[in-house]
Amino acid sequence: MPGQSLDARLARAMVPDYFSVQMHLLHACNLTCAHCYDIDHPSLAMPSTDDVKRRIDQIFLLGKRLGVVPDVHLSGGEPTLRRDLVAIVSHILQTHGGDALLFTNGTRLSRALAQELWNVGLRFVQVSLEGPEAQNDAIRGDGSFAKAIRTLDMLAELGFRLTVSITVTARNFPVLFPFVAELDARKLHFHVREVFAVGGGSDLQAITRTQRRELAEWAIGWQGESTISIEDPVHCSVSPAYAHTQAGCVAGRNHFCVDVDGSIFPAGRWVTASVTSTPSKRCGLARR
Ligand SMILES: C[S@@+](CC[C@H](N)C(=O)[O-])C[C@H]1O[C@@H](n2cnc3c(N)ncnc32)[C@H](O)[C@@H]1O
Repeated sequence: MPGQSLDARLARAMVPDYFSVQMHLLHACNLTCAHCYDIDHPSLAMPSTDDVKRRIDQIFLLGKRLGVVPDVHLSGGEPTLRRDLVAIVSHILQTHGGDALLFTNGTRLSRALAQELWNVGLRFVQVSLEGPEAQNDAIRGDGSFAKAIRTLDMLAELGFRLTVSITVTARNFPVLFPFVAELDARKLHFHVREVFAVGGGSDLQAITRTQRRELAEWAIGWQGESTISIEDPVHCSVSPAYAHTQAGCVAGRNHFCVDVDGSIFPAGRWVTASVTSTPSKRCGLARR
């Protein structure tokens, strides 16, 4: 109710036992991926370090009032373009004692920066790839596959827990299963999302209903060294691998998204189906 204090409103709210927040730190990127939903917002100014820290403070204030330590997912644009990235990550991890997941295209993350991020406590990084080299580079640009794989190797050496994010379209669907099988021994987490018809994504063909079923069956039956999640509420409801997760989509329940200008959405455009909770009400990243 308007006019009521936050505490009064929270007392009446359905309190989640975990939540994650996706923060967009900037819209700028060094790549121009064919499918990118973000091409519509290049003009939004990058928030200052203080603005980002204030937003983080508010997220953790909400978490405190709910009795939950939130996970903060840092996205963009390309977060590694921000010179204050270490300070932002440190504010989440050191100042607030939360967990953070860094999203990156893996093409410009130096070992020195990765080490600094490790030193302030970052443990979870998600690198985007769209399939084997030819398919990836056709979408993400020439040379991006080789750089991202080198980054994955370097991050693995430093000890980071790694997710590979794959956006699936009719074009890369045929290579998806063999691609994951090829990287399986690296013990990664693969997060597969379907392309959203937004920005560049609106020019690409989505997978068919039959392919969607194949995808869900593959993910449910998966028994490799790595783990898999797909952005499908049915998958996260029925897969034994996610028996500990909520049933269904986290949008507006366990997740929200803060855009570059501070606007809040009930869901990111790619809500993860792999968020987990623990009895201590710590969020998903600590579990992986
Ligand atoms: C926008 S990027 C930002 C972080 C970083 N620059 C990267 O490449 O991972 C975050 C994720 O959204 C995915 N993405 C971009 N456009 C999309 C779309 N139209 N539909 C679904 N996912 C999309 C990207 O492939 C990437 O995995």
